[in-house]
Amino acid sequence: MQTRLDKFLTEAGVGTRSEVKSIIKKKSVTVNGICAEKPEMKVNPDTDEVAVGGKVVTLRSNVTYLLHKPAGYVCAVKDNCFPTVMELVPQGRDLFPVGRLDKDTEGLILITNDGAMAHRMLSPRSHVDKTYLAVLDRPAEDGWITLFSEGVEIGDDAPTLPAKLVICDAANPELEYLPEEYKGGLFPGQAVLLTIQEGRYHQVKRMFHAVGREVIYLKRLSFGSIVLPLSLKKGEAILCDPEKTIDMPGNRVNSLTARAAHGDVKRKSAQNRRGGGSCQKTERI
Ligand code: URA
Repeated sequence: MQTRLDKFLTEAGVGTRSEVKSIIKKKSVTVNGICAEKPEMKVNPDTDEVAVGGKVVTLRSNVTYLLHKPAGYVCAVKDNCFPTVMELVPQGRDLFPVGRLDKDTEGLILITNDGAMAHRMLSPRSHVDKTYLAVLDRPAEDGWITLFSEGVEIGDDAPTLPAKLVICDAANPELEYLPEEYKGGLFPGQAVLLTIQEGRYHQVKRMFHAVGREVIYLKRLSFGSIVLPLSLKKGEAILCDPEKTIDMPGNRVNSLTARAAHGDVKRKSAQNRRGGGSCQKTERI
C-alpha cells in the first residue's frame, strides 16, 4: 500500500512530521537510490527502499513513545471535550496510551501499539512499580511510611498493596522535577515520593486523602524501569524500548537516590544550602 514519504518516515521513528520535512528538504532522503524532493511523494514500504543519510529505514512493527504529559491532556485515544495525549505523538500506527494519568497529572506516560507490552505493564499480577512526586497541602507525617508500607484503606474492597513513601527534604534530587513555582517554597515534608504497585483510579490522591491530606501537584517519574528523563520537556516525546532499562542523560530518579545512598553522588546538604545555619522546621525546601 502506498503512503506519503513524510508519513512513512514519521511512523518509522525518524522524527516528527516537521523534522522529517526538513530532512527531505536538505536532500538527505533517497527512494530507490534517487534523492527525494517532496514530502508528499508516494512510497510503498513493502517494495521501495527508503534511506536517510544512506541508512535504509524500515517500519518497526512495534513502536513505543515515552511522553512527558503536560497537565490538561487526557489519556485517551479520543475525547470530545479535552485534548488527548495522542496529539503529542506522531499519528497513525494504531497507538494507544498504556494506562492513564488524570487530566491534571503530569509526567511519564507510554504510548504504544504493542498490546503485549501494555498488558505486561498494566496487569495487576505484574505489580509494576510506579513512582510519583506529589506536593501535599500540608506536610506528611513520618508515621505514614510504615502505614503506607502495610497498605492503606481507601474505600475499595481491599486495602492498597504495600507502597513506599519517601518524605523529601531539601537534599532529595527528585525535587528537580518540581515546577519552578514550588522550588524553594515548600515546607519540609510537603513534597513526597510514593511508589505504588497498582493503578487504581485516583490511587495516589485517595491514599493521601485517607490520611487527611490533599494532593495539590502530581507527577509520575517512573513506570517499571523506565524513568522520565529530566531533560524531556513537557509535551515532548521520545521513542523508547520498554524492554530495556532507560538510563539516559538527565535520568535522575532512583538512580541518583540510589547512588547517593552508595556515596557516589553527594546529597545536597540542607545545611550547606542555607549557609551553615541551623535547620528550622519552618524553613522552606
Ligand atoms: N494516582 C492519581 O491519583 N492520579 C494519577 O493520575 C495517577 C495516580
